[in-house]
Amino acid sequence: MPDDEPALAAQRQHWERTFAARAGMFGSDASAPARAAALAFREAGLRTVLELGGGQGRDSVFLAASGFEVHALDYAQAGVAAIQRAAEAAGVARRLTAAQHDVREPLPAADGAFDACYAHMLFCMALTTRELLALSREVLRVLRPGGLCVYTVRNTSDPDFGRGVHRGEALYENQGFIVHFFDRAKVERLAAGYELLGVEEFEEGALPRRLFRVTLRMPLR
Ligand SMILES: C[S@@+](CC[C@H](N)C(=O)[O-])C[C@H]1O[C@@H](n2cnc3c(N)ncnc32)[C@H](O)[C@@H]1O
Repeated sequence: MPDDEPALAAQRQHWERTFAARAGMFGSDASAPARAAALAFREAGLRTVLELGGGQGRDSVFLAASGFEVHALDYAQAGVAAIQRAAEAAGVARRLTAAQHDVREPLPAADGAFDACYAHMLFCMALTTRELLALSREVLRVLRPGGLCVYTVRNTSDPDFGRGVHRGEALYENQGFIVHFFDRAKVERLAAGYELLGVEEFEEGALPRRLFRVTLRMPLR
């Protein structure tokens, strides 16, 4: 077992504790990438969305309220419960479901079950490159041909890159949170089997975090 594996595994409890203590950690307004994803999904005529790492649901609720059918996954039960409460409060529970799932395991969906996948800051969590490659193949499996995947990751221009405790590869722990920082080469490696439609840089939050927004398409075959 690599030295850092226990630290990576402990992140699950860290997210549980964080969400239990901090309601609305990322706010309740939709993020910029969720708005961009909604536009791209609508333009492509997509309807069903699998969201990975939905957190407390700021983007899940927005996507459901925008008319998409959303199934959100997160490994923190406190996050799943928050998404379910937010869906009820916003009156979108019919179009927004949430379940606990660790993306290091195969995705709980049939081949081609979703039109789209959306993941804001999930791929840059405590996941090794090997786990990310497996996840990327799983997303490809559950997307229908022509489907889109929009994901975001903190990148190597981020002020936190290289700071704190090194946890292997390009993973660093700051204030208890482990982040996997991406360069373009990693984005391209994870795009195997997809068409890579775009890599946009953007900033979020006060630090500010620096991120890539990546848009992938499952080929029509
Ligand atoms: C940085 S937060 C982003 C939350 C949400 N997407 C947002 O932007 O508000 C990352 C989320 O990914 C979840 N997460 C981290 N690793 C995960 C894993 N292996 N499987 C499922 N969820 C995971 C965390 O519980 C957390 O909710």
